[in-house]
Amino acid sequence: MPLINTKTMFKKAYRENYAIGAFNVNNMEIIQGITEASKELNSPVILQVSAGAIKYANPTYLIKLVEAATIECANIPIALHLDHGDSFELCKSCIDKGFTSVMIDASYLDYEDNVALTKKVAEYAHSKNVTVEAELGRLSGIEDDVNISEEDASYTDPAQVEDFVTQTKVDSLAIAIGTSHGAYKFKRGQKPKLRFDILKEVEKKLPEFPIVLHGASSVIPEFVEIINQHGGTIPDAVGIPEEMLKEAAKMAVCKINFDSDLRLAMTATLRKYLAEHPSHFDPRQYLAPAREAIKNMVSHKIKMVIGCENKA
Ligand code: G3H
Ligand code: 13P
Ligand code: ZN
Repeated sequence: MPLINTKTMFKKAYRENYAIGAFNVNNMEIIQGITEASKELNSPVILQVSAGAIKYANPTYLIKLVEAATIECANIPIALHLDHGDSFELCKSCIDKGFTSVMIDASYLDYEDNVALTKKVAEYAHSKNVTVEAELGRLSGIEDDVNISEEDASYTDPAQVEDFVTQTKVDSLAIAIGTSHGAYKFKRGQKPKLRFDILKEVEKKLPEFPIVLHGASSVIPEFVEIINQHGGTIPDAVGIPEEMLKEAAKMAVCKINFDSDLRLAMTATLRKYLAEHPSHFDPRQYLAPAREAIKNMVSHKIKMVIGCENKA
């Protein structure tokens, strides 16, 4: 089937209390690993591309690789989504190139300007049957060149969500409840905590409306250890406990974003493989297990965390 937008995906996910995984893609092996897992588990999937991915890979390559995946996985609903678009121009160019969903992340602006820019993107996107995600509140962590410190991060204010969605007419909303981007989400010794009270308030204000969680990687210790044992240095990396994500997926959260966990799985596999096979230099030798690691990580998320197995 051709690429689809997120509308029907989210409607079903909301009603049946699961979430769709949104995985960041940067190259062929990552796209293949994610979509092979989705196909095997008969699961819908969102492939998302950041501005950094566009800069790295060239959008045409990514779009054509994703289109290839729709042919290889003909029975799986796949959406191609722009992750953290920060301007009307970037969103428009992705929409014009065939993306079926975009995020306008104007959370760096004040409320009124966030509304104005988000509304402009939503009007254009909807005229092309493209769905729109926006963000209210600010996550801490690192996205591309933007490094948002904990002091500048702020939880979503539930009092604003109804007005924001009514004015902008967006199709889904990313909220800040304590998740953050990257591999260092909590300090060593700090107990991971998500503000489920805010999520519940938002849910009450926006019945049946799809909520999105960014920064949701769990930073699985096994992979951090493999990296650190094979020449890497990523000490004190901590993520979101999977139990919390499972709970969120049963609530209004319909899309959960994962990037760091895929990066860690791929890096751990590559480091270990190259350390154990010092004479190998054919990229296919080390990229094949790396691709398999992506597939295994996505299968794990689908089966054990977000619950969208057999929901295609
Ligand atoms: O939210 C950020 C995603 O992990 C994408 O990361 O901007 O480095 O491609 P990136
Ligand atoms: P992680 O860094 O937790 O994987 O979050 C990714 C993300 O939110 C992409 O938009
Ligand atoms: Zn994000």
